[in-house]
Amino acid sequence: MIELQQLRKCYGGGKARGGAKAGGGVQALDGLTLQVPAGSLYGLLGPNGAGKTTALRILCTLLAPDSGSVRVGGVDALAEPRAVRRLLGYVAQEVAIDKILTGRELLQLQGDLYHLQASARNQRIGELIELLGMAEWIDRRCGGYSGGMRRRLDLAAGLLHRPQVLVLDEPTVGLDIESRAAIWGVLRQLRDGGTTVLLSSHYLEEVDALADHLAIIEAGKVIAEGAPSALKAALGGDRVTLRVREFSDADEAERVRRLLHTCAGVRQVVVNQAQGFSLNLVIEHDGVIEQLRRQLAEADLPVFALAQSRPSLDDVYLQATGRTLMDAELAVAGSRDPKAERKASM
Ligand SMILES: Nc1ncnc2c1ncn2[C@@H]1O[C@H](COP(=O)(O)OP(=O)(O)O)[C@@H](O)[C@H]1O
Ligand SMILES: [Mg+2]
Repeated sequence: MIELQQLRKCYGGGKARGGAKAGGGVQALDGLTLQVPAGSLYGLLGPNGAGKTTALRILCTLLAPDSGSVRVGGVDALAEPRAVRRLLGYVAQEVAIDKILTGRELLQLQGDLYHLQASARNQRIGELIELLGMAEWIDRRCGGYSGGMRRRLDLAAGLLHRPQVLVLDEPTVGLDIESRAAIWGVLRQLRDGGTTVLLSSHYLEEVDALADHLAIIEAGKVIAEGAPSALKAALGGDRVTLRVREFSDADEAERVRRLLHTCAGVRQVVVNQAQGFSLNLVIEHDGVIEQLRRQLAEADLPVFALAQSRPSLDDVYLQATGRTLMDAELAVAGSRDPKAERKASM
């Protein structure tokens, strides 16, 4: 239903009008390729700054890519943006909602923008009020709405024209549990009714619970893709996180990594640097744990903390990138330091 091919987008550092780009810009998308099957609930998972919003804005024809192609339902979005907009509903990450109008008035206005007839428009608004549980407050002014109410109203506005494809940018960020559950329920219902739903999120649990397909994106590229269960299954056995002691440097951690690697039944060992050098590994069966405790103790590296779990999407992320999603977010926050940026551009 949606096909993004080799999308590139660079912000700043000279617009790519003539093709060539000056250096110093931010490469928000770096060859992003993605296929969203019709009728799926597809999650785009990635840390802040990964390029999710940029990709979704390009898909919704609100932003032009530097290069690459976008097709929705077989229609070329760059050549025929209006046709694509009819197929799509877009719920943006941050929306400025009018404070004086009521929710219902806002939806009516939006319906007029879509050229819906008044009776069809009002009927559709009635359906959406019920679907999204808005009856109690829809006739109050938007100025007094909570984040959850606003989000539901945004969602209703995106659904007014019954789009075949609904695109949502971080639909539940900052919401209370109840609003989040309500939105999840609606998205599932839409998918079950045949709508293709594409949402971005930096919440692993959200994508894991909700999506039937997902792509993990990092630095403007897809680094893993598939059904959540398949991605996790591909990682094999249980995950183990262990700490030996505080390592003073990466070399020492690397030595332990190599040692663990020689243990039978241990599949992958990744050093997680950001957390005082813990080690993440995959084991083939439970018996492996006793074995590796023994081997480490013999090397005078007794284990002092060990946790075992089934594979999660965070493990998929860690496997693909060598760090956890949370660490990636911290790294992005760090790189936004203006001094660091200035240095990087010098
Ligand atoms: N309008 C803009 N001007 C300059 N840089 C931008 C702009 N929008 C986004 N970026 C940068 O592009 C990268 C990707 O951003 P974005 O698509 O918003 O990611 P996400 O939605 O995954 O957090 C980030 O490094 C961000 O700082
Ligand atoms: Mg974003």
